[in-house]
Amino acid sequence: MSFLPERVELKTPEQIQVMRRSGLLLHHVHEMLAEAIRPGVTTDQLDTLAHDMIRDEGATPNFLGYQGYPATLCASVNDVVVHGIPDDRPLEEGDIVSLDGGLIIDGWHSDAARTHIVGAPRSVADEDLVRITEEALWAGIAALASAERVGEIGAAIEDFVDEEAGETLSHLEGFGGHGIGSAMHQAPDVMNYRTRARGPKVRPGMCLAIEPMLIQGVGSWELEDDDWTVRATAGGRAAHWEHSVAVTDQGVLVLTAGDGGAAQLAARGITAAPDPLAGEAG
Ligand code: MF3
Ligand code: CO
Repeated sequence: MSFLPERVELKTPEQIQVMRRSGLLLHHVHEMLAEAIRPGVTTDQLDTLAHDMIRDEGATPNFLGYQGYPATLCASVNDVVVHGIPDDRPLEEGDIVSLDGGLIIDGWHSDAARTHIVGAPRSVADEDLVRITEEALWAGIAALASAERVGEIGAAIEDFVDEEAGETLSHLEGFGGHGIGSAMHQAPDVMNYRTRARGPKVRPGMCLAIEPMLIQGVGSWELEDDDWTVRATAGGRAAHWEHSVAVTDQGVLVLTAGDGGAAQLAARGITAAPDPLAGEAG
């Protein structure tokens, strides 16, 4: 136990290039999963698809075995917010499924999550939940692009959600993202809301997983007996979006986005850092 802040691992441009390889493969895994999701498919089947694709590409899943975690993906359905364990229940039309996954290439980790609605949405409120959570992620990434301190990310996410959703959506107290690099979870914490901590200074070489989670209505939650599943307890459903992002001296690069974040950042008046893999085939 120390009262000094934990050291933040700063990556070299060469290391960020390998993290981009890791993130880009994870992007392709998520694209594959988006195609595979439909009524009747089980989250066990999605887990197997992700596992096989990661292995076939010569990478290693980083969730599997992490503190005993039993799967490649977290699959969080409806009122499950995060860390749901894949199972054999067929997905139904209107289910909300958050798929979270990560992998390792040459020792460098990536971590990203997307929320899908299976088939037709059950309500406008469900569509709003999923859209606002994704946009909250981009609000956090956009804040990082000009932030002096890591704490500005959570403040931007909270302000965005307040403005878009008012009281209709809640964050979960105690949850947020993290540093990422030679391990999946590193310093610093990246909370999903405003706290008193300003956090460490943002510097080139910093890589962060930003991952807002939102619940419809009241944000109360409980941890199930499996010690993983985080379930909303006030009747609302939940969404979770995550990207791994690098800070470079040429701006931020969204490691787990197909285009490095270029389009979403441009829509917010920000130029993404150049993709170190640009020009490579494949
Ligand atoms: N993206 C998840 C997180 O940062 C990773 C979960 S680790 C697992 O919380 F072991 F649950 F897979
Ligand atoms: Co994460």
